[in-house]
Amino acid sequence: MDLTKVIRDVENFPKEGIVFKDITTLMQDGEAFKFTIDEFIKNLKDKNVDVIVGPEARGFLMGTPVAYGMGIGFVPVRKPGKLPHETESYEYDLEYGTDTLQMHKDAIKPGQRVAIVDDLLATGGTMEATAHLIEKLGGEVVSMQFLIELESLKGREKLSKYDVNSLLKY
Ligand code: PRP
Ligand code: ADE
Repeated sequence: MDLTKVIRDVENFPKEGIVFKDITTLMQDGEAFKFTIDEFIKNLKDKNVDVIVGPEARGFLMGTPVAYGMGIGFVPVRKPGKLPHETESYEYDLEYGTDTLQMHKDAIKPGQRVAIVDDLLATGGTMEATAHLIEKLGGEVVSMQFLIELESLKGREKLSKYDVNSLLKY
């Protein structure tokens, strides 16, 4: 199935010069959404994955159905101040300034095999931070799965030590 047909390009969102890849149109299309989730599951089925991790917010949309379909758990990575129990934090650099992501400290058990699922790979900062949190908790990142990869931003280079797969490259 050609998923490019159901992803909407929105120019100058959220800032001038950015072409935003809108996945809400893909999710509105039941056939395309099911195809996407099934592709992720196909890519992960032989990797002996114990748990799926997804970063807020669009990683939740892609990651939870994958976890459900595989019959394994899902762990959210959240922006600061959202998780109620004890958290591990990781601060990372953006083009201007910094950002922080958090996970519950007891969300990953040492030795667990973890796959991360998100909608889009841009600079790779979100994924690098997510992997760092998982590893700090003793998990092993066995795969990173994206719907969309923006190749010009070279996020893959930052993630060179991981198994990185994207369904669509722009
Ligand atoms: C977007 C996207 C990825 C991340 C990719 O999330 O869903 O998680 O950016 O960018 P990067 O590779 O440069 O880190 P965003 O932070 O906009 O949050 P949202 O899902 O809550 O909209
Ligand atoms: N996250 C980072 N860059 C993005 C883009 N161009 N479209 C959608 N989400 C993004």
